Amino acid sequence: MSFSPEWLALREPFDRAAREASSLDLQALQASAAQSATNGTPYRVLDLGCGTGANLRVLAPRLGGKQRWHLVDHDARLLAELPSAMTRWAETHRLKTLPDSAGNGLVIEAPEWRAHLSWQKADLVRQLDELPFEGSQLVTTSALLDLVSASWLAALLTKVHEARAALLCALSVDGRIDWQPAMSSDAQMSRLFAAHQHSDKGFGGPALGADAVPRAVERLVALGYRCLQAGSDWELAAPSGGARLLVQMIDGLADAALRQDPGSRDLVLTWRLQRLAQAAHSSLRIGHAELLALPGK
Ligand SMILES: C[S@@+](CC[C@H](N)C(=O)[O-])C[C@H]1O[C@@H](n2cnc3c(N)ncnc32)[C@H](O)[C@@H]1O
Repeated sequence: MSFSPEWLALREPFDRAAREASSLDLQALQASAAQSATNGTPYRVLDLGCGTGANLRVLAPRLGGKQRWHLVDHDARLLAELPSAMTRWAETHRLKTLPDSAGNGLVIEAPEWRAHLSWQKADLVRQLDELPFEGSQLVTTSALLDLVSASWLAALLTKVHEARAALLCALSVDGRIDWQPAMSSDAQMSRLFAAHQHSDKGFGGPALGADAVPRAVERLVALGYRCLQAGSDWELAAPSGGARLLVQMIDGLADAALRQDPGSRDLVLTWRLQRLAQAAHSSLRIGHAELLALPGK
């Protein structure tokens, strides 16, 4: 499945706001990163389905210390955008960026932290075995887990467990969609959208959609992990800068609903027109979940 750099850039401020407002407790990761700094070794992070690197832009400043990130995506266009997206972000936050000494990565320096970045084009399905799980202290995803199949999730969790790594999965949809003001057709649209979220997204089977986090927790607990969860909902409203994303969500929900059930065309097109007509006075909450899994001793 492909995602445009424009779509990722449009959602990034809302993803960041949702994660910053989330009550997920990152202290255990911060303590591990601090311990690595004390030992003089970088804290190693593996970011799967990295896009242009938005997950790092949220997490690296919160982790602190000395970090080494390896970012993986199958989309060459997104990876080509990654260095400039990082540099723009670093400039906005008055951080220093340097090419790494080998010339194929980037170093970002802040007063409180330093991150060395490398990135790799790889297909998470065909090339999972080739990725550097071993030696990673944290494996992370953002806006990825709901796309994956049950069998791929099981393979990922086995890799994470074998590496005795922590796992942080940000921004997985949890199925809640709340429009204000509500319309009677919202419920049917949400049902069609939820069904579409279970279609195959290229991970070798139906996507888990809103079942991804509960399924992951069940398996992680069986593997001896301690799981922490918290919400990270998108809050979109035109007056607070969400107009473009709100309109894209209306179009995206309508497209997905039509693909799911072409027979519902009248309902979907009417819903879309009514939602667009009142978009300037509407708000939308999309439920997301954060999951942090910490390995047992
Ligand atoms: C919704 S985007 C999230 C991107 C990024 N983590 C963020 O938060 O902005 C999902 C990402 O997963 C990547 N992806 C999807 N399927 C993949 C696969 N089979 N192998 C590698 N990357 C994949 C996409 O290219 C995309 O960058």
